[in-house]
Amino acid sequence: MSVLIKGGTIVTTTGRYVADVYAEDDKIKSIGKNLAVEADETVDAGGKYVLPGAIDPHTHISMPFMGTSAQDDYETGTISAACGGVTTVVDFDLQQKGESLLEALERKKSWAEGKAAVDFSLHPAVMDPRPEVIEEVKKAILDYGTPSFKIFMVYDFRVDDATMIKLLEETKKYGGLVQVHAENVYIIQHMNEMLEKEGKLAPYYHAVSRPNIAEEEAVSRAAKMVELTGSRIYIVHLSSKEGLFKVKEARDHGIEVFAETCPQYLLLNEDRYKEADFNGAKYVMSPPLRTEESSEALWGGLKGGDVQVVATDHCPFDFHGKKDMFGKDDYKKIPNGAPGIETLLMLMHTEGVVKGRISLERMVDVLSTGTARMFGLKDKGEIIVGKDADIVVFDPEQAFTITQDKLHMNVDYTPYEGMKMTGMPHAVYSRGKRVAEWNGEQLAFVGEIGRGRFVKREPFEGF
Ligand code: URP
Ligand code: ZN
Ligand code: ZN
Repeated sequence: MSVLIKGGTIVTTTGRYVADVYAEDDKIKSIGKNLAVEADETVDAGGKYVLPGAIDPHTHISMPFMGTSAQDDYETGTISAACGGVTTVVDFDLQQKGESLLEALERKKSWAEGKAAVDFSLHPAVMDPRPEVIEEVKKAILDYGTPSFKIFMVYDFRVDDATMIKLLEETKKYGGLVQVHAENVYIIQHMNEMLEKEGKLAPYYHAVSRPNIAEEEAVSRAAKMVELTGSRIYIVHLSSKEGLFKVKEARDHGIEVFAETCPQYLLLNEDRYKEADFNGAKYVMSPPLRTEESSEALWGGLKGGDVQVVATDHCPFDFHGKKDMFGKDDYKKIPNGAPGIETLLMLMHTEGVVKGRISLERMVDVLSTGTARMFGLKDKGEIIVGKDADIVVFDPEQAFTITQDKLHMNVDYTPYEGMKMTGMPHAVYSRGKRVAEWNGEQLAFVGEIGRGRFVKREPFEGF
């Protein structure tokens, strides 16, 4: 199978240029002006961008959570990814009590078997930190191809600071990366108790119960553990100006704290929780949406380099029957999470690039090249010879209005309903095979279910 993409504008992290791209048998084989090669498929990309496929390193596919499960499985989740220009997914794999990390990985890989439409990898989430599990970290980094480890400072399955320190020590030795959901659980518990006494249980109080200071404190504490151990950490779904300040403060002192944010924290704010008819429940996620001040600060962090990755935290639950049933009388029971894998690239282009908040090149960095580097995806993330032909031919002029019925995610709403996009994927390739294409109205999936492979990742090499 071969494809020739002719005359598009290839975008890198440092610039752009017009050239042809020829891909054969999974790989980018040559790049140049007027390539004289015959291919099975030729695409005229004149006036379009040729981007590396986006990488989403924060998804919760089929994750059991809060008495239910995140609704996209590997089939619907990766079809949605493909239709949004996401060609690699790094999904969280929550270790169960008594499991080894390897058992957890084999279990989640079996869920993906025959279902993934694009390539995927896994981050083990350490939830049962027995001594033998901490010892297994070395193997996970060097043998299993999963060098990043998620820990939670909140939820019932959180780990304590001692576990964080042990993991930081182990990952430092072998080139791993600890990823942390940073919120202070005691602040949240205290706020929950106060709000409960006052009968304040509507969706809006979800935001009140998790103030910016809860993130600020947890980021600051995690950064101190990094200072102590000389290791490195990656803060997932950074949401607040105060949290960002702590990231920046650490980085300014040479402490290796990396950060990811998500479109929801860049584009939506806490007013959404006040939407009528319980619609505020659609935005119940943790950390919660903040104010515009935080969003503006996060755009600044992305532009300036203190935030290195944009991911989705894709964790969909239906509004009808899940969000509106479980939590009708109490925000604490609303399943936390929202859909987003399919809208990542279009939102970052329209809201980031077209509105002048970040350059096109920076978008490529935070969605692809920098993400690949952060997570050891050595064959992904760039349009250069030798890399996997994970390519998005992107039409920067294509208009699209986001509506749930034009998306593929297995959920009954999108937080971005009605938003007008400028720029959409025209054709999406996963290892040289077309997996999605613009059909005049929306993206259509044209790939092969089960072709997506588990990708072994490399240890962290520094940034
Ligand atoms: O609300 C969220 N973010 N749900 C998914 C789990 C997590 O904390 O990332
Ligand atoms: Zn989280
Ligand atoms: Zn998450």
